[in-house]
Amino acid sequence: MAQTYTVITGASGGIGLALAQTYAQNNHPLVLVARNQENLTQAAKRIKNTNNVDVKTMPLDLSAPGATVELYSFLAEQKLPVDQFINNAGFANFGPFHQIPGELQMAMLDLNVRVLTDLCQRFIPLLIQFPNARLVNVASTAAFMPGPYMAAYYASKAYVLSLSEALAEEYRTTHLAVCALCPGPTKTNFQSRANMGRSRLMHGKFMTPEQVAHIAYPAIQHGDPVIIPGTLNRLLSYMPRFLPRTLVTRIVAGAQEPT
Ligand SMILES: NC(=O)c1ccc[n+]([C@@H]2O[C@H](COP(=O)([O-])OP(=O)(O)OC[C@H]3O[C@@H](n4cnc5c(N)ncnc54)[C@H](OP(=O)(O)O)[C@@H]3O)[C@@H](O)[C@H]2O)c1
Repeated sequence: MAQTYTVITGASGGIGLALAQTYAQNNHPLVLVARNQENLTQAAKRIKNTNNVDVKTMPLDLSAPGATVELYSFLAEQKLPVDQFINNAGFANFGPFHQIPGELQMAMLDLNVRVLTDLCQRFIPLLIQFPNARLVNVASTAAFMPGPYMAAYYASKAYVLSLSEALAEEYRTTHLAVCALCPGPTKTNFQSRANMGRSRLMHGKFMTPEQVAHIAYPAIQHGDPVIIPGTLNRLLSYMPRFLPRTLVTRIVAGAQEPT
């Protein structure tokens, strides 16, 4: 049987790139997707130099009209069998809700919610044909609580978590395991793209993307439906279950308030 590939969106940096490196170390051929062609090419070269796996790149703005069809057609034309798909590309906007430019909020919801859902729908029929198929959606610890000053982002990740848990159950009796990967604060370009310089969260504890990937990889292969890397992140994610929702929201507001 031909070697099967793992597709990772948002693999030119941050958590996506760290996942790509970990997958390559575990002998998975890869298809890396992101907008920045130069960064993708460099990433692929570095991964190929240190691991004996094939790495293909697809420079693509996933939010552009027709982009998800383009990705699907690229993989079909190249006859690449895909048995793991990681929906990682995403971003956030930080600030008082009405001060965030409307087009930025819409672009974020488009990538974090519409594109992710479209890719799940498009690729599940392909993935499901393979034994040990995996669909991974990168949510966040933000998925477990409302997030004042990043309100739409937290809501988008609550959607990703809910969708993924529902799909995990729908496909439970098949070869496909659906996993929601929920990292806590992780040092990447995410914070600068989200304009989080004035958030109190910036003074908190961060994991590295490599730590996230190192913990996530075995949990994904095990088929865990919800993966929260880090003990503190797990505690903070479960705590809202035991507190009034208004209190949780106020605590998050205090933690994130612009300084
Ligand atoms: N960092 C954190 O604290 C944290 C915590 C929890 C969850 N997350 C989630 O983890 C995921 C990865 O974030 P990260 O922290 O690794 O951020 P990052 O360093 O900014 O990486 C984001 C990746 O997505 C790609 N991307 C962005 N927009 C895209 C588009 N329209 N089309 C295709 N690719 C696009 C970027 O590459 P290009 O710019 O080249 O397109 C980059 O490779 C996101 O879903 C994020 O919400 C992050």
